[in-house]
Amino acid sequence: MRSETLKRYAAPVPRYTSYPTAPHFSSDVGAGQYAQWLRNLPDKAHLSLYMHIPYCDQLCWYCGCNTKATQKYEPVHGYVDVLLAEMDLISEAIGSGRVADHIHFGGGSPSILHPEDILRIGEKLRSLVAFDENIEFAVEVDPRNMPEDRIEAFAQAGVNRVSVGVQDFAPQVQVAINRMQSFERTQSVIEGFRKHGVQSVNIDLVYGLPYQTCESVQKTIEQVITLDPDRVALFGYAHLPQRLPHQRLIPDAKLPDMNERFAQANCAGDLLVEAGYVRVGLDHFAKKGDRLACGDIRRNFQGYTTDDAGILIGLGASAIGRLPQGYVQNATAVGEYQRRVMAGDFSTQRGHALSQDDQMRSFVIEQLMCSFHFPEKELIARYGEAAREVVEETKRLADAEEEGLIATDPDGDGFWVTEKGRIFVRSIASVFDSYLGQSEAKHSAGV
Ligand SMILES: C[S@@+](CC[C@H](N)C(=O)[O-])C[C@H]1O[C@@H](n2cnc3c(N)ncnc32)[C@H](O)[C@@H]1O
Ligand code: SF4
Repeated sequence: MRSETLKRYAAPVPRYTSYPTAPHFSSDVGAGQYAQWLRNLPDKAHLSLYMHIPYCDQLCWYCGCNTKATQKYEPVHGYVDVLLAEMDLISEAIGSGRVADHIHFGGGSPSILHPEDILRIGEKLRSLVAFDENIEFAVEVDPRNMPEDRIEAFAQAGVNRVSVGVQDFAPQVQVAINRMQSFERTQSVIEGFRKHGVQSVNIDLVYGLPYQTCESVQKTIEQVITLDPDRVALFGYAHLPQRLPHQRLIPDAKLPDMNERFAQANCAGDLLVEAGYVRVGLDHFAKKGDRLACGDIRRNFQGYTTDDAGILIGLGASAIGRLPQGYVQNATAVGEYQRRVMAGDFSTQRGHALSQDDQMRSFVIEQLMCSFHFPEKELIARYGEAAREVVEETKRLADAEEEGLIATDPDGDGFWVTEKGRIFVRSIASVFDSYLGQSEAKHSAGV
């Protein structure tokens, strides 16, 4: 790979977990609009739910999530009261009898919750929605503080998939990111979940962290493989110290450069593939036979998923929901979120009503991110004449691209991102983003 190419395609771009991306949401969509959208949801449509717990025992310096460290449990317990009150508001708007296919407990660290709060949430969820018999109910876990009674409570609440944060096992890297986490501790938490019947395990890893090298990343991957996860997510470290002050504690001078990041992503991915994992989208890997490696995948705020329900309801501070009509985001500040919900209203702070052009571009970008294909025929079948402008854009992309990152489909159905181009798929997708550059948003490196 020529270094000018790398430089050009590795320029900062969004991660496209939605289109338009969150920085382009506006205050035009508020609580009243959200309530109306909820009341107008199509009958019988299945739902997905995302619940955000914005608390952790301590802050990792690389963290890009909306969370804060707390030494006391009272604020967390109080937050759960508000989460349950928000579920009551949702229930009033959508009525009863809805079925959920996917539930995701994210954060922050839902693993901070005490068993009684985990069980309260589980009970309330079952009064809000019926669980589909094949439901995927996942929880994100920081294994450093995960007593067995919490594992048991998650299993009792219906959790059947656990996502464990690892990042890197090298002590020098762990010190530099303020996250000391032994292999043994991680292993015992995974065994604990399996013992309580939670069989599906995902592990989150990050490359591009301070002091990481190809060799150190490979060593972590070798250790991770012995834990036999069903899925692995391999994220490139998003370093945005202007926006996230705690990331200023990361020693900039020790961060791998662009070429090194590129090499780390490649050698980590190759090792997982050699071990029998299938590449899924840009940064996920799944065992052959896992649902993520088989069927159609989608992209949402949690990354890649098998969740094809068009309705995602976000619960908790900063949570983002997607409804057929558009996106909504709850108040980011915990105090503001709590105040508004306890006053009996949704805390919706921003959102975006999807135009036809948004829907069309969202379809194209999601297809590129998930299947690396620009499906020209389906685009035209869905959007007719309106798709012409987007198809024209592919011609300009093909003229400007000289590195073999894309290839025309042999049956004349648009183009494919090549093996070489896969790692740059965010940059290729950004060609179809008509909002890019219109906000002050800072994005992370494209590799
Ligand atoms: C939302 S966090 C929550 C999970 C849990 N609290 C933990 O620490 O494992 C999920 C994952 O996001 C990834 N992540 C967090 N900050 C990131 C950053 N700045 N760049 C890339 N990945 C990041 C990490 O892999 C982390 O495990
Ligand atoms: S990575 Fe996880 S544990 Fe660390 S601060 Fe972020 S959310 Fe909390």
